[in-house]
Amino acid sequence: MEPRVTLDLSPDQLLSTTRAVRKRLDLERPVEREVLLECLELAVQAPSGSNSQRWHWMFVTEPDKKAALADLYRRMFSVAYSPEALGQLDATGERVRQSAQYLADHMHEVPVMLIPCQWTRPGTDGANQAGYWGSILPAAWSFLLAARSRGLGSVWTTMHLVYEREAADILGIPYERCAQAGLFPVAHTIGTEFKRAPRKDLDAIVHWDTW
Ligand SMILES: Cc1cc2nc3c(=O)[nH]c(=O)nc-3n(C[C@H](O)[C@H](O)[C@H](O)COP(=O)(O)O)c2cc1C
Repeated sequence: MEPRVTLDLSPDQLLSTTRAVRKRLDLERPVEREVLLECLELAVQAPSGSNSQRWHWMFVTEPDKKAALADLYRRMFSVAYSPEALGQLDATGERVRQSAQYLADHMHEVPVMLIPCQWTRPGTDGANQAGYWGSILPAAWSFLLAARSRGLGSVWTTMHLVYEREAADILGIPYERCAQAGLFPVAHTIGTEFKRAPRKDLDAIVHWDTW
């Protein structure tokens, strides 16, 4: 087994270099269960409304199940990323498209998929959407940060959720009571250097006291 990876990243480096990783997911190298659980121990330190912690964490490693989930992902991907849907792309858009296409083509080959779930579906318990999703997504992002600091990479995806019920059937998730929040392919990254990404200037998005 290859040695464990621990990256010596400052908090600011971690926050600014946890990227959407697709082409640099190492599809050959297994991911130890122990490392995934270590990331999860950190993730569940995240806040949730009233400290409800109604989260469940589904790791998928069986090839047949990964293949079935990848098929659902691709079913939506082929619609969302069709030439008609995308229209004319600039150079950056084309780079993202190629990266996304690579992930779609290889989704079934990732060593592990993680599907964060939350008990009771949104809207069935009187909670608003922000309260509902705000009780699971911070933990999901913490998982990805913890993963990055251990040499793992992932990318936040939601496409399979169009077929969430079918995914629930594949995994035995009780769909009527439990919602899926995304699907994160997890793998060691090929190389561990990632850069800060360009983002909008704060000037365009910051408001002080008045819009
Ligand atoms: C809610 C959400 C849904 C996303 N869905 C997908 C997806 O289905 N497939 C995919 O390849 N990337 C998906 N992404 C990844 C984004 O494309 C990515 O975060 C964005 O391009 C920024 O990448 P960067 O952090 O490397 O700059 C999603 C991200 C978010 C936050």
